[in-house]
Amino acid sequence: MAKKNPTSFSPASSPAARSAASPAEIDAARAAARNTDSGPASPPPEAAGRGDAPTQKAIDTQALAAGMPSNPNKPLEHGEANAQATPAGATVTPPSRLPGASTLSEHNDSDKTGTVAPEGVNATIGTLDRVRVDSSGQVLTTNQGVGIADNQNSLKAGARGPVLLEDFILREKITHFDHERIPERIVHARGSGAHGFFECYEPLTEFTKAAPFKEAGKVTPVFVRFSTVAGERGSKDTARDVRGFAVKFYTDEGNWDLVGNNMPVFFIQDAMKFPDLVHAVKPEPHHQMPQAASAHDTFWDFVSLMPESTHMLMWQMSDRAIPRSYRMMQGFGVHTFRLVNEEGEAFLVKFHWQPKLGTHSLVWEEAVKISGADPDFHRRDLWEAIDAGEYPEWELGLQIFTEEQAEKFSFDILDATKIVPEELVPVRIVGRMVLNRNPDNFFAETEQVAFCAAHVVPGIDFTNDPLLAGRIHSYVDTQISRLGGPNFHELPINAPIAQVHNNQRDGMHRQAIHRGRVAYEPNSLAGGCPFQAGAAQGFTSIARRLDAKESADKVRIKPEKFADHYTQARLFFESQTPVEQAHIGNAFRFELSKVTVPAVRERVVASLLNAAPELAQRLAQDLGMELPAPLPKALETPATPEVDQSPALSLMARPGDGGIRTRKVAVLVANGVEGASLGKVVSALVAAGAVPRLVGARLGTCIGAAGERFAVDATLENSPGFLFDALVLPDGAAAVEALDADAHTLEFLRDQYWHCKTILALGASDALVAQAQIPMTLPDGAGDPGLILADAVDAEEAIDAFIAAMGQHRHFGRENDPPAA
Ligand code: HEM
Repeated sequence: MAKKNPTSFSPASSPAARSAASPAEIDAARAAARNTDSGPASPPPEAAGRGDAPTQKAIDTQALAAGMPSNPNKPLEHGEANAQATPAGATVTPPSRLPGASTLSEHNDSDKTGTVAPEGVNATIGTLDRVRVDSSGQVLTTNQGVGIADNQNSLKAGARGPVLLEDFILREKITHFDHERIPERIVHARGSGAHGFFECYEPLTEFTKAAPFKEAGKVTPVFVRFSTVAGERGSKDTARDVRGFAVKFYTDEGNWDLVGNNMPVFFIQDAMKFPDLVHAVKPEPHHQMPQAASAHDTFWDFVSLMPESTHMLMWQMSDRAIPRSYRMMQGFGVHTFRLVNEEGEAFLVKFHWQPKLGTHSLVWEEAVKISGADPDFHRRDLWEAIDAGEYPEWELGLQIFTEEQAEKFSFDILDATKIVPEELVPVRIVGRMVLNRNPDNFFAETEQVAFCAAHVVPGIDFTNDPLLAGRIHSYVDTQISRLGGPNFHELPINAPIAQVHNNQRDGMHRQAIHRGRVAYEPNSLAGGCPFQAGAAQGFTSIARRLDAKESADKVRIKPEKFADHYTQARLFFESQTPVEQAHIGNAFRFELSKVTVPAVRERVVASLLNAAPELAQRLAQDLGMELPAPLPKALETPATPEVDQSPALSLMARPGDGGIRTRKVAVLVANGVEGASLGKVVSALVAAGAVPRLVGARLGTCIGAAGERFAVDATLENSPGFLFDALVLPDGAAAVEALDADAHTLEFLRDQYWHCKTILALGASDALVAQAQIPMTLPDGAGDPGLILADAVDAEEAIDAFIAAMGQHRHFGRENDPPAA
């Protein structure tokens, strides 16, 4: 072994001096550079590296590490003055790529490894194209890529002999199948997703530096998942329930998840009560009933002991809880969040999604029937609309206000059971979201997507809402179980489009393959990289929080204004139209009639007496009980509310544009149908963007009176009336006679009528209307705007009236409680 020359390895020696190293010195350096468990006392001479990769790596690593003689930021980690001026981390550029490499062999590429990692890039993120699989034209293989010659038979010892353990193809297939299921979400298990984009209308830089709002026209990709809360993964879509409205913005500064609901308030004020709430609403644990329903003892027992839920109960008993379509419901961020601009100024904000199609709902009996005939009603509706190119669209509205304004409100903006009425802070429309692509694969995208209330980007921050605090913790925690380990952020649907670089390593199912040996910070061996972004580029928490100033003591208590449990419940009820109020009453009656313990029912009515006495009185009567005394209030004299009515809280406040695009219309047909008027009606509906379907007794061809041939799309049996938004009854005596002979027709017609939908009866089909005993006028004696009986000769005019009436969505004037016989 060559002897070391202490002089030539002296730290003081210049590169020039080192390049003059003797061959012996160079050999020594090379030997040292290949040693993986101890190093030389002094750096190898520069000349030793030439043409020799291990030595060059050792030399470059030494230079890199020496470039950071100390951690210059250490002193700045202390003291309040430095808290708002976090510096960027120290970093040194390496002389070559060698110090960052795990291996000197990284240049040896193959079809599997690809080439060397692109400099400074995390290739696990980006569009989904790199993980999309298209098997067209491909042979079937095992998971190891081996072609499978026979996918029909297991390997046997003789045609009638036993299956052999050797059959690795069978075992691989069955084993994978055995593990196909993952745990469903604890709440919001049932959902449907879609891809799309958010487009900003105007720069909001005055209020926030958040990436999606930086300039007009800026487009940010999104993935959205709509869901119910209580039901299991396979439960019905049309349950009475809150709907989740979760949006993942893949911004160029990281993922921002706005994980909201279709109602702007919540049942509880503190995350401490979330497990109790969910245990109460889920099927009861002894017999696992009822599925996807709040109409049972434990839910009403819990909420009646939690009067802060009264406001949310009003929303949940309203028609908002049975939307006609995900495309026709609002979304809300619920909590008050913060916007933060480049100057560090903070504003309070509430987020609103407003559907372009307006807000529309089902009626209860219809929702119940749909859940039997098509439990996928909302999923199908979303999928079909997007695949038809009828992309659902929402506008994003912000209520932006200051802490000073908030301090004067009669309610606390940290209380998730309260809204900020639009009369106090108007909603400012700032952009639109369009959903224009269905997922390729439900499991890979909609099921594996992991939203989290804690995912914010620079420019968005939290408030001290105690419910939000629990959410910040809960989502990732539960997803570690649901998605099997801590690396689910690497699943393609969850990976941001922004670069991800940190020192988190390992864990189950790791996808990223990190170069190099450095997985800590500070470091000098990777040139300090990845280095902390500092306040200029990174996320910083807003320091000034007036909402925290009252007390620095550690306490388990709520602020005073949280004790006002009824003022906004009243505001909501008072802001509804009479039809909506009636529906709220009916929903409470239905749910409470399913409660088996009278004392629970009594407590709910006692609580409602504090919010809406007339509603409570009606309920007591309908439930056959004495009117109880009002529930004692937590706060006898709450602050006077700013408004008593807020019209924006009514579903009717957002009718949409009155059009009928994507609405499904049943056109009943049978042999002998009068073809000319039928053709006109179908063409007019298609021209208006609606989806007419010819519904007959059986699939096949229907022959018109003049010999025309019509293909039947659906049957009276497989597509009952309540699945359609409107109904056309055809002209033609023979057809009417045939339809009349089928009891399905009359049921179809009655459902359409009782669910307040628009009906067009052409020519001879008025006989069907009479046969079904459909009233010709409304209960108040007025004409029914949704029932159009027309001579087929005047078809054009009648069709126009039909389309206009459909644009009204429903004709609630028909309603009677109970429905007239
Ligand atoms: C304002 C109140 C809340 C809203 C608006 C809300 C909204 C949502 C939404 C939309 C989802 C479904 C996400 C998806 O589609 O994958 C969800 C899931 C979930 N939420 Fe909440 N939530 C609220 C309160 C809470 C609270 C207080 C907690 C716990 C402290 C919580 C825990 C969960 C959990 C564990 C999941 C399942 C997540 C998963 O497995 O992916 N939520 N929530």
